[in-house]
Order: sequence, then C-alpha cells, then structure tokens
Amino acid sequence: MIDVKAIREDFPVYQNQPNMIYLDSAASALKVKSAIHQVDNYYQTLGVNVHRGAYDLAYETTMLFEGAREKVAQFIHAIPEEIVFTRGATSALNMVAHAYMNILSEGDEIITSELEHHSSVLPWMMVAKHTKAKLIYVPLTKEGRITEEGFLSVLTKKTKVVALTHVSNVMGYLTPIKAIAKHAHKVNAVVVLDGAQSVPHMRVDVKDLDIDYLAFSGHKMFGPSGVGVLYGKKHLLDQLEPFEYGGEMVDQVTKDSATWKEAPMRLEAGTPVISGAIGLAAAMDYITQLGFENIHAHTHQMHQYTLKKLKQLEGITIYNPTAENPVICFNVDGVHPHDIATMLDQHKVSVRAGHHCAQLVSQFLGVTSTLRASFHIYNDMHDADTFIESVKEARDFFLGF
Ligand code: ALA
Repeated sequence: MIDVKAIREDFPVYQNQPNMIYLDSAASALKVKSAIHQVDNYYQTLGVNVHRGAYDLAYETTMLFEGAREKVAQFIHAIPEEIVFTRGATSALNMVAHAYMNILSEGDEIITSELEHHSSVLPWMMVAKHTKAKLIYVPLTKEGRITEEGFLSVLTKKTKVVALTHVSNVMGYLTPIKAIAKHAHKVNAVVVLDGAQSVPHMRVDVKDLDIDYLAFSGHKMFGPSGVGVLYGKKHLLDQLEPFEYGGEMVDQVTKDSATWKEAPMRLEAGTPVISGAIGLAAAMDYITQLGFENIHAHTHQMHQYTLKKLKQLEGITIYNPTAENPVICFNVDGVHPHDIATMLDQHKVSVRAGHHCAQLVSQFLGVTSTLRASFHIYNDMHDADTFIESVKEARDFFLGF
C-alpha cells in the first residue's frame, strides 16, 4: 500500500509547492530525495572522472558509476555490458537508428506506428529516406491500439527493423511486444522498443520480452534529467557503429584508422553522465523498495477514480478510457486545450496540452491537440477531485454551461 503522505516526504519539491496538483508525470516525474542526494554527493565528495584515473577518488567514482550500470542491468534483467548510458531515451533511440543508416538498403522494411513519440519514429523516417528502405505503419485498431494481428498484417520477409513504443505517451496503451518480438524474430528483424513510459511503471524484463534494444530516460522515473539508457543484446551492441567518436571508446588508433572497444564503452564516447547514472541507480532503488505491484495498485486506483468522475462530466471527450497506463487523454469539446490547461494552472493543477511530441496520434484522433493528465505515486484523491472541479469550472467558463 502506498502512503501518499509519507511518499511526499521523499519528494522535496512538495516542501516548496505544498498545494501543487502535479498531473504531468508522463512528461517528467518529480525527483526523489535519494536520487538528488546521490547526485549532490557525487559533486560534493568526488567530482572526478571515471575509468581514466589511477588515484583513489577516480577508483571510487568508477566503482559507483559501474555499480549504477549493474543496478540498471538488474532492473531490466540484462547484464552490465548491455547497458549504455546516454543523454536520454531520445539519444538512445537515435543511436540505434543512426547505426542502421549503414545496415539497411533499398527495399528493406521498417515497421513502426502512428502511436510513436517523435523520438521513436523520426530517426527511422530519416533512416528510410537515407537508405530508401520503406517505413511501414502498423494499422491501429479503431481505438488506436497496436495489436498482434495488426502487426502480422504488415510483417514481411523484408522487415528488418520493428521500432515501436511499449506504452504510448499519449494514449497509455500497452503494446503486446512479447508476441510481436516473437514474430519479428522469425524473419530476423530486430525489435527496438521505446520504453520511456513503461519502465517507470512496470517491470520490463528484456529477456522475457526478448527484445533487441530498449530505450528509456531517468527523468521519467524520479531520477535526474540528462541521463538515459540504451539496452541492447550484447552481440548487437558490439557491432553497432558508434554515433559519436572520442575518448575511452577507442581500442587502437593509427594516423588513418581506428578500432573500437566492445560494448558498452564503444558507445559511450567522452566523459559519461556520471552523476546522472548514479542518481538513476538511486531512483531505481527507490522504485524497487516500493515495488511495482504497489505502484500499480495506487496509480490504477487514482486513474480509475478520476476517469469515472471525468466521464460523468458533460462536454468532455475522453480518447483512451481503456488505457493500461495511468494517463487520461481528453478534450473539453469546442475549447482549445491550451486555454483549459491555463485555467487549470490557476488551481495549481499541472497537465500537458498539445500534441505531446506525437503528432501522428493527434492526426489519428482527428484533432490538433489534446489535454493529458498523468498520475504517479505522489498523487492522491484530493488531486483527482481538484482536477475534476477545475476541469468543470474551466468548461463552464468557456462554454457557459
Ligand atoms: N515525452 C514526454 C511527454 O510525453 C516529454 O510529455
């Protein structure tokens, strides 16, 4: 059971913003004290580089940094050599796509979907343009879901890459990726999963799902911004052409050639995000202590309670009433979402308005933009009630109910 009062003690922002109704965790989750302390501790007590120094502080920092890698690996059931620290999920996804610029060729097919965040679809759109591979979209159900059947209808022997979201950042739908990966592997395609919205909410086991690559960010799971993770099966990462060249990723250099180290070092050119990795590991510890069952039970209850109340309001369109993740995508009919979001802010209710960096989803829904309320462990029934009251007030103001 989640005790929200106790949880809020772990999120220092509530000390400065005690009345905040934060419903935008899908954009960025609030930051947990233990992660902030770890980042601070690195800067206060260490502050030196990793891997390079022969002195005590460098050794200690390297131990902490590599310890973080081990923790991340455990968290998703990988091995440390399969964990690359990146700047975020976006750079992780770009890193993979960039390498496939030289792997794919004309006629190859890349399967993606209209549910993708721009970070998951645009890199592959550029790969397709560059290589003349074809970008193919999984037909979504009427509700907007990716299904195994929809996927099978576009899978061919020419499919080389399957780049999909695990959980849509707008709709909160869960992709049946385990079944999809099984089919994809029968034609030797690789599966690149955008886990930015799933890893903070559920146990993502890369072995069980048998995916080839997974990307996610620290800032959506109570950790620091500026750090993310690319997971890749070791034999694939070892062949991935680096996205960046520089220090510590090199094996041998001559005047006109160079060779790269094995993964993960070959993909971490330059000084890595040391503080971010350490902070992310602390955030993962916090999640592990709480347990995903408890996190899910709480956010699910919040989600269903709010959904039920929102459904009772007239003049509201809810686009994803069956979402698995605690995300409500909606509009007040006839009112621009930005106007509603601005009014909600007067009650200190924070939601996101716009296309949520996923314009294809808005196009699928036939709108230019939507409102999105997303929940996490620090939200309570008071947040839900205030949100509902504020939406009602904004609706009445604009539509004169
Ligand atoms: N990708 C983040 C969101 O969905 C920023 O809001």
